[in-house]
Amino acid sequence: MSNAFTDLMKKRRTIYHLGNQLPISEDRVTAIIKEAVKESPTAFNSQTSRVVVLFGEQHQKLWDIVKNTLKKLVPAEAFSATEAKIDSFAAGAGSILYFEDTDIVKGLQEQFPLYADNFPVWSEQASGMAQLSVWTALAAENVGASLQHYNPIIDDEVHATWDLPKTWKLRAQMVFGSIEQEAGEKNYMEDDARFKIFK
Ligand SMILES: Cc1cc2nc3c(=O)[nH]c(=O)nc-3n(C[C@H](O)[C@H](O)[C@H](O)COP(=O)(O)O)c2cc1C
Repeated sequence: MSNAFTDLMKKRRTIYHLGNQLPISEDRVTAIIKEAVKESPTAFNSQTSRVVVLFGEQHQKLWDIVKNTLKKLVPAEAFSATEAKIDSFAAGAGSILYFEDTDIVKGLQEQFPLYADNFPVWSEQASGMAQLSVWTALAAENVGASLQHYNPIIDDEVHATWDLPKTWKLRAQMVFGSIEQEAGEKNYMEDDARFKIFK
């Protein structure tokens, strides 16, 4: 089956071998990220997602924070493997930090008490939708990326380093760059175990 959108979805993969030679300009990357996030749906159009884009030295700073934080937590004998992994992220061209604004979520809970329990869940779902949109839009431009989660251990330092509002809750880090090695083959479980179609 061919479909323009699902074909693009297939093009989006987790790329671990990233380089810093972007096939498009930093301005174009920024514009794509903005558009993909803005066009992603949010509950009640609440637009809870917040994004910080780091290029070059700012991106290096993020992975220094991750490395220094992990160094205090990972046993010394296991640290070289951790360090190699962090260095592979630092080798990319940039990073995208995904946040959700808890102030907006709190406001919605107060405004619509009937749905109070749902708003934090919808906020998480909206963040995932924004992440996938950006990841796929970058793939369309042959920019590779992978999704990482070093929150919450890096949260305080990230907030302090880029002077971010306290209400922004860090949800994910997406590192991007040139594709130095394609992803391997992807395995899929059987459709029969996953889908039920009734006509
Ligand atoms: C919610 C979520 C969390 C993930 N967290 C991580 C992560 O912390 N580190 C990582 O390397 N990949 C992470 N991934 C990527 C998955 O491992 C990857 O998408 C999956 O193995 C399928 O491979 P593909 O992205 O190439 O299709 C995450 C993906 C999702 C959807």
